[in-house]
Amino acid sequence: MSENTMLKVNERGHLAVGGCDTVELAHKYGTPLYLYDEQRIRDRCREYIAEFGDRYPQVEIAYASKAALTLGLARLMDQEGMGLDVASAGELYTALQANFPAERIKMHGNYKSNLEYRMALEAGVGRIVVDSLIELSQLNCWAQKMGSVADVLVRVRPGIDTHTHQLIQTGQVDSKFGLGIYGGEAREAIELAMAAEGINLRGLHCHIGSQLLETDAFGRTIDLMVEFLARVHDELGLECEDLDLGGGLGIRYTEKDEPPTVADLAETICPRLLAKLDEHGLDYPRLILEPGRSIVGDAGVTLYTIGVIKQIPDLRTYISVDGGLSDNPRPALYEAVYEAVVANRAAETPEQWVRVAGKHCETDTLIDDTCLAACEPGDLLAVFSTGAYNYAMASNYNRFTRPAVVLCCDGQDHLLVERESLADLIAQDRMPVHLAPREANERGCAAG
Ligand code: LLP
Repeated sequence: MSENTMLKVNERGHLAVGGCDTVELAHKYGTPLYLYDEQRIRDRCREYIAEFGDRYPQVEIAYASKAALTLGLARLMDQEGMGLDVASAGELYTALQANFPAERIKMHGNYKSNLEYRMALEAGVGRIVVDSLIELSQLNCWAQKMGSVADVLVRVRPGIDTHTHQLIQTGQVDSKFGLGIYGGEAREAIELAMAAEGINLRGLHCHIGSQLLETDAFGRTIDLMVEFLARVHDELGLECEDLDLGGGLGIRYTEKDEPPTVADLAETICPRLLAKLDEHGLDYPRLILEPGRSIVGDAGVTLYTIGVIKQIPDLRTYISVDGGLSDNPRPALYEAVYEAVVANRAAETPEQWVRVAGKHCETDTLIDDTCLAACEPGDLLAVFSTGAYNYAMASNYNRFTRPAVVLCCDGQDHLLVERESLADLIAQDRMPVHLAPREANERGCAAG
């Protein structure tokens, strides 16, 4: 069994994140609360840049901002010299508002709206990743209309099956993403892109899936992509400047998970890529990677207050916390499994098996079966590895307010996102005149 590297206990027996006492943070900001260990995020960025940079001549690591994005996180990524993958007007807007350099932004999406084309071209993002033939012609029109030329990567669907939840596989033949190698669509897109006036084709992209706990699929992807590259080089004369292999490296959610390290991934990808390129006599393109989860995932912890404890005799104990489906939909969507500790009793030995339930009006199990220290209402529960696709996927279901997000570093806490207020929940609501509440006296008359 591997140790939980997130479990840092301070001298008061409390869980610490980035040197901050989680009990104090819960008092200061309330719960539920998303916490990030800033140093851990920075370490991961540096690890990617170093491990790949040591093994391949030209590398860009573009953080996949869908995993978690705020103005502050965008600034942090810029400080670390990362690129940024955005997949919507909202992500692009956030990045630009944070002054993230446009030339290091990659614009994604299988359905880009007119607003997104316009914003991307106006901002001059570094690469627009084209996902379909329809998009190629739309983008070409937009670029010409706006008097610019779009720097493009064509997203290829390599036809690779991966060992991960089917909802987060993306490179298989039967996927909505990308242009298939099989069937000739990718080749056609490249041919059209090379001829289009508003398009400057810079290279190819693929992304095979997420939370991958084995590196073998990356190896197979390289073989397929380079063979395809060689074909379009020979047949169409494509000089590929960029080869973007997407993200996907898995992280440890439970002690049973043994994810490959960033070094393992680099060791799988770089030598094989160089060898394959040599084999086909191709120049080395710049290598781009787009990790999301493996940058921020295990840097995140969610804090909850334990409210209700219910024992069903001879069956199980339910512990209800003050969040659930709205702040972490992953157990419901992907059967994701998490681990937790009682944050204010982090030094105590786990002794009871419990089910952790949320407080939504449905069966929103957060953790099906986990062993916790003895606890009581008012204690704090910390769930680990919630840094990716939690805040980013949070909703207002049941009109819950979305939690605050706090960055912790060297014992200092820094607010990244304010907790939503009840007033925020109705801020966008509009009252149609015929539904407006009547004056009090009128209501009184009607009642009388
Ligand atoms: N690049 C592209 C084009 C992607 O679509 C994704 C993720 C990434 C990079 C980053 O992948 P990562 O390194 O984070 O695995 N909501 C799901 C995950 C969806 C991933 C979508 N695309 C979850 O909570 O597991």
